[in-house]
Amino acid sequence: MKNWKFETKAIHGGTPIEKSTGATKTPVYQSTAFAAETAKDLEAIFKGNKYGFYYTRSANPTVAALESRVSQLESGVGAVAVASGMAAITTLIFSLATSGDHIIVSKSLFGSTYYLINGLIKNSGIEATFVDTLSIDSYKDAIKDNTRLIFIEAVGNPKLDVPDISAISQVARKAKIPFAVDNTFVSPYLLDAKALGADIVVTASTKYLCGGNSAVGGLVIDLGRFNWASHGSVPITELKKFGDQAFLAAAKKVRGNSGNALSPQNAFLTLTGIETLHLRVERHSENALAVATFLKTHPKVSSVTYPGLPDHPTATNVKKQLPKGCAGMLSFRVGSQENAYAFIDATKLADNSVNLGDTRTMVVHPGETIYRNLSAQEKDDAGVYADLVRVSVGIENSDDIIADFEQALGEV
Ligand SMILES: Cc1ncc(COP(=O)(O)O)c(C=O)c1O
Repeated sequence: MKNWKFETKAIHGGTPIEKSTGATKTPVYQSTAFAAETAKDLEAIFKGNKYGFYYTRSANPTVAALESRVSQLESGVGAVAVASGMAAITTLIFSLATSGDHIIVSKSLFGSTYYLINGLIKNSGIEATFVDTLSIDSYKDAIKDNTRLIFIEAVGNPKLDVPDISAISQVARKAKIPFAVDNTFVSPYLLDAKALGADIVVTASTKYLCGGNSAVGGLVIDLGRFNWASHGSVPITELKKFGDQAFLAAAKKVRGNSGNALSPQNAFLTLTGIETLHLRVERHSENALAVATFLKTHPKVSSVTYPGLPDHPTATNVKKQLPKGCAGMLSFRVGSQENAYAFIDATKLADNSVNLGDTRTMVVHPGETIYRNLSAQEKDDAGVYADLVRVSVGIENSDDIIADFEQALGEV
């Protein structure tokens, strides 16, 4: 329903009551194949001339319900769900660029995204220029005739810096280049990417959308702002017949051909998680601010980074773009790697885990895990210091999280 507010769409969006049984939850269509009435029907479904399903690698009704709900939450024109957040980024890039093309990517990136772009993408003949996410000029300067995509993270990894999304969008718009934002760290409840000028959102639904640490998944959402007829990449040119659905059609082709399908069970778990997304991210934001404020005053902590702190270096962009909160990701430094390990080992409530956006609090040493393959110089540039601890603050009672951190810092 068009006029529903976010919270209502999070519960009812994309999931009509199942007519044959009256089930109010979207069923898990755990079927590999779907039979058509006639050979002509199957032909029409294959050609996209009739709505329907034939094989879960290409499309599945439970996955389609998730796509519809997330597209509504992002005010998009459609979405493609895939097997993980990384699969979403892979799908995004291969839908828009091919050998000989160029993309612009912010330097503030999740480790696996950096390895993907510097590995598989580069080896496929797609050149990437990495730019300082806070320098608007660096985006302008990096544009070439064959640039097919500008891609950023809404809250950059691991520095937790928040770029000026509207300003980057204006650069992209002027050059007729699609602009994609990874909103994994904040979710659509906290960040209205479309209003800020993004053309595409990619997200790891593994994190806040699912929320329960139970289903890996990812989505690519077309926000309906970009005129695909003006895009010069081969896949899109081939797909002009799909009009404003051209990008989604290209993404579905990449998904089907690469086999990056999301399982129906994971789509179901993610749909269930989304029903409480707005409540959870509000609590994550409150708790993270309380934990960050506590850490700032602790004598064993030399610095704390949380976008919601008033002295955060990109506080102006935070105020403009994340008025409802900054979710649960923060980091802090404790003087040495030994101290960081001592803190992590001493926590009793927090899990030592690389996941984020889960209901439970998680701590990790990013330098020797997620970013272990970066050179010493790259780690330094990215702000992955040896004494850095990354925290995904959960939705437990914040007093308990703070008490756990206080006792763990006592062991440092
Ligand atoms: C910002 C961001 N994007 C994408 C991903 C990849 O998600 P997944 O682990 O589901 O592949 C992550 C994972 O942590 C992430 O932090």
